[in-house]
Amino acid sequence: MRLTGGRLQPLGCVLALSLMALVLWEIPGAWALDNGLAMTPTMGWLHWERFMCNTDCTEEPDSCISENLFMQMADLMDSDGWKEVGYEYLCIDDCWMAPQRDSKGRLQADPKRFPSGIRHLSNYVHSKGLKLGIYADVGKKTCAGYPGSLGHYDIDAETFADWGVDLLKFDGCHCDTVEQLADGYKHMSLSLNKTGRSIVYSCEWPLYMWPFKKPNYTEIRQYCNHWRNFGDIYDSWQSVKSILDWTSSNQRTVVSAAGPGGWNDPDMLVIGNFGLSWDQQITQMALWAIMAAPLFMSNDLRHISLQAKTLLQNKDVIAINQDPLGKQGYLLRKEDNIEVWERPLSKLAWAVAVVNLQEIGGPRSYTISLASLGQGVACNPACHITELLPVKTKLGFYEWTSFVKTRINPTGTVLLQLKNFTTETNGAKDLK
Ligand SMILES: *[C@@H]1O[C@H](CO)[C@@H](O)[C@H](O)[C@H]1NC(C)=O
Ligand SMILES: *[C@@H]1O[C@H](CO)[C@@H](O)[C@H](O)[C@H]1NC(C)=O
Ligand SMILES: *[C@@H]1O[C@H](CO)[C@@H](O)[C@H](O)[C@H]1NC(C)=O
Repeated sequence: MRLTGGRLQPLGCVLALSLMALVLWEIPGAWALDNGLAMTPTMGWLHWERFMCNTDCTEEPDSCISENLFMQMADLMDSDGWKEVGYEYLCIDDCWMAPQRDSKGRLQADPKRFPSGIRHLSNYVHSKGLKLGIYADVGKKTCAGYPGSLGHYDIDAETFADWGVDLLKFDGCHCDTVEQLADGYKHMSLSLNKTGRSIVYSCEWPLYMWPFKKPNYTEIRQYCNHWRNFGDIYDSWQSVKSILDWTSSNQRTVVSAAGPGGWNDPDMLVIGNFGLSWDQQITQMALWAIMAAPLFMSNDLRHISLQAKTLLQNKDVIAINQDPLGKQGYLLRKEDNIEVWERPLSKLAWAVAVVNLQEIGGPRSYTISLASLGQGVACNPACHITELLPVKTKLGFYEWTSFVKTRINPTGTVLLQLKNFTTETNGAKDLK
């Protein structure tokens, strides 16, 4: 704690600070990348987990990485309610490029799969009221072996800006040293800024840094709008669980780095695919909201069940993800294979997720003392509790000294929202 001018801090202030320390852990500088973007976590669609590096348009014309795929997804994002609930960025991942730069040294799209070019695609995407994301790599090559941006940061940023691109996912494969990696991520951030175009900058800097040294999140936040910390997601419960485990194990380092303008990115939503049960899909949606995660779906919007669509378009859960306070939630406690996560929201509200990690047996009951939630204040003096997932249910009015009982399916989650009772009832008056 800093001493100001040799004067003693008032006692109240000292107490408040020590209470805050319970939640704030490592406190990075508040400064986020100053491009005015990602004030809430970015939402959209990203091709990787579902379509990977499928370049065979002869055998698989409907699922190869091509302009047709993105135009079809753009149509559906517009017509099927995705845009309306906030999914705005339609993002291309690796394998869109031709194997060589053009004669002027610029990246170019594969001429067979993107015959009209990226400029045309971005016009199309913009005409649907959406934004276009693209992919490149900080090193010599992309992860799939296409041209990397090393030594070409300025020209690549200018190319993307010329094309009307709105987001860059910048991967970290094929760097020689961690210095090269860090310098490259910073350089590209400045190159994007110099173009004058608003481009969300999605980094993988900490993911590639961790094996060598602990990333400096204060610094990363100054250059990136979101950053991947952990390996790629797969369409499996094992994968979702490993991301949650990594995040809770490292929450003292990463949670406080998140805030308006910069977010931890636990990777894509795989809801609507093949690998997760219904309960596991609920868990992913609930926990991605608790973690203030960017919400990039990777699925096939042409073939998605109504159930998965309803979950992905759940406005109450999206509102938690997009809460303007912008504080990431964290694991509060774990006992007997039940995890309780909580996230502070604006207007003194809290979100609480109770996850049942026991992969045997049936639904389990778990009772929570309300006084133990939200540093003791979430339900003080009383609160209204609504269960948002699996099924929206008003649970009603609770006092601080009372308990709430949940019942959670194996690998499923119950997501609750707690609203300060006094604030809520006074809310209407305050608005006048
Ligand atoms: C570039 O950075 C400056 C200073 O940080 C900021 O004011 C400006 O809005 C940025 N421009 C873009 C296009 O991000
Ligand atoms: C992390 O980066 C910030 C901003 O660049 C810097 O002020 C700080 O000293 C760095 N911290 C460490 C531990 O290197
Ligand atoms: C709930 O609202 C009341 C009245 O606005 C306030 O006195 C009380 O401190 C609030 N509770 C919390 C936990 O902030």
